[in-house]
Amino acid sequence: MKTIACIGAGYVGGPTMAMIAAKCPDLTVLVADVNADRIRAWGTDTLPIYEPGLLPLVRQARGRNLFFTTDVAEAIHRADLIFVSVNTPTKTYGQGAGLAADLQYWEKVAREILAHSDRDKIVVEKSTLPVRTAEAMARILHSDGGRIRFDILSNPEFLAEGTAVKDLENPDRVLVGGDLETENGRRAVEALADIYRRWVPRERVLTTNVWSSELSKLVANAFLAQRVSSINSISALAETTGADVGEVARAVGMDSRIGGKFLRAGIGFGGSCFKKDILNLVYLCRNYGLTEVADYWESVVRLNEYQKTRFVRNMLKAMFNTIAGKRIAVLGFAFKADTGDTRETPALTVCRELLAEHAEVVISDPAALDNARREFGDTAHIQFEPDPAQAAAGAHALVFLTDWDSYRHLDFAALYHGMVKPAFLFDGRNFLNHRELFHLGFNVYPIGSQPLTHLAAGGPGPGQDGPVGLWVCGLWGKTGLASDGSDGSD
Ligand code: NAD
Ligand code: UDX
Repeated sequence: MKTIACIGAGYVGGPTMAMIAAKCPDLTVLVADVNADRIRAWGTDTLPIYEPGLLPLVRQARGRNLFFTTDVAEAIHRADLIFVSVNTPTKTYGQGAGLAADLQYWEKVAREILAHSDRDKIVVEKSTLPVRTAEAMARILHSDGGRIRFDILSNPEFLAEGTAVKDLENPDRVLVGGDLETENGRRAVEALADIYRRWVPRERVLTTNVWSSELSKLVANAFLAQRVSSINSISALAETTGADVGEVARAVGMDSRIGGKFLRAGIGFGGSCFKKDILNLVYLCRNYGLTEVADYWESVVRLNEYQKTRFVRNMLKAMFNTIAGKRIAVLGFAFKADTGDTRETPALTVCRELLAEHAEVVISDPAALDNARREFGDTAHIQFEPDPAQAAAGAHALVFLTDWDSYRHLDFAALYHGMVKPAFLFDGRNFLNHRELFHLGFNVYPIGSQPLTHLAAGGPGPGQDGPVGLWVCGLWGKTGLASDGSDGSD
């Protein structure tokens, strides 16, 4: 094995190939994409994606054994092993619209591989695909009568955006699915596994049959998303009962059988993978007549939609049932911290609902403003502002939708000073110090616990400035006791 290619230079193709090139200086790695802007950007120090630690990794190998190109045919022709890492979004048309994976890009690549190959090759599914896609790929690749031998492997990627470099350097596991029944299949599996074994401990490189590998990827994402929806469902219950979802998550997560990760309640999961992959799983189940199984997984996505809508409903209720004409500063638009990616970001739904209520929305984000602008096009009543302080000036509310670390260190006293009073703060990620913010004067609304508000039941007079010394701990609107059993006065 001397040369490997990757078709698709996106969030997965770029970082994974950079890692392989860095770890295997003896291999030539060609990353090809039809998107010329993306390829150009990979050749500069302004990479097309924001990912901590990625630039030094790319620089380590770029021009040495890592090359970015728009010449897909040439990359295919030269490679012994080809990763296919193109996008597989949810289908928006025809049969399976809204559920199934759109395989048009993937199939196009399969046909190009066939057209530009003149010797045996290993083809690796890196994209997340429905179970048994490898079979379809095999049929396309062997559609000219088997002139060339293609071994098809499944090697799904488990990296998470924002921690991609760390995840690739030190993965929990690497999955290589192949035809373990035949000598050629086993040889292909070993060839790919050997690449990873250069830096990943042997016991973490798992080999399985192709279908288990394809299914494992969908299931891993479905399980992770299900945890987020589970804790978000409890956040609604906590708000109405006086429990604190953070305390519940801690207590539940300390059970070693359950574990503490992915139990942060918030405005719902986003990103290009969770929703798409669960819907894909749902579609598969429906296709196989497993209605109850499909319904079960679909509810994870339904709960996620509910959580976003519920957040805006709570905002509206807190702000006297109207936000029309009010300036609302949205801090954070990326679907999670440390990425500029806005695909399926819950912030988009929240902002759209705020606009539907005729709010004046100002969006700020340290890395996702360009993508945010693209999402909204020339929508009215929306502004984009890189500086959070400028966004907050004259606002009625601050709404935190991404848990950027830099937001923890904002000068909240100054922000408060520049806002219209009473000043509201909605923490959609439950990551700020709510008590401190309350003491600065904000009316603070977390997710899954009681608001800390200076507003007496019935609401204050407009223009009331600063804390009034009365902490009414309302069960999201109702007046009641604080969760510690006190009367709530502070
Ligand atoms: P992406 O959209 O960022 O990148 C895909 C790239 O493929 C694009 O740049 C596109 O131009 C290119 N492409 C499409 N058709 C092509 C063709 N015919 N020839 C050459 N290039 C072509 O997508 P992504 O986020 O990198 O995801 C890729 C796959 O990996 C998906 O199946 C996704 O589900 C999976 N995945 C993504 C993540 C993630 O965190 N983003 C994690 C694990 C798995
Ligand atoms: C996910 C999987 O984690 C990764 O293994 C897979 O390869 C691709 O899909 P990613 O979408 O990049 O990765 O981000 P992830 O960290 O999983 O977060 C997804 C969403 O869930 C984000 O919007 C995040 O904010 C949200 N989330 C996560 C929560 O709301 N609460 C949590 O406790 C964890």
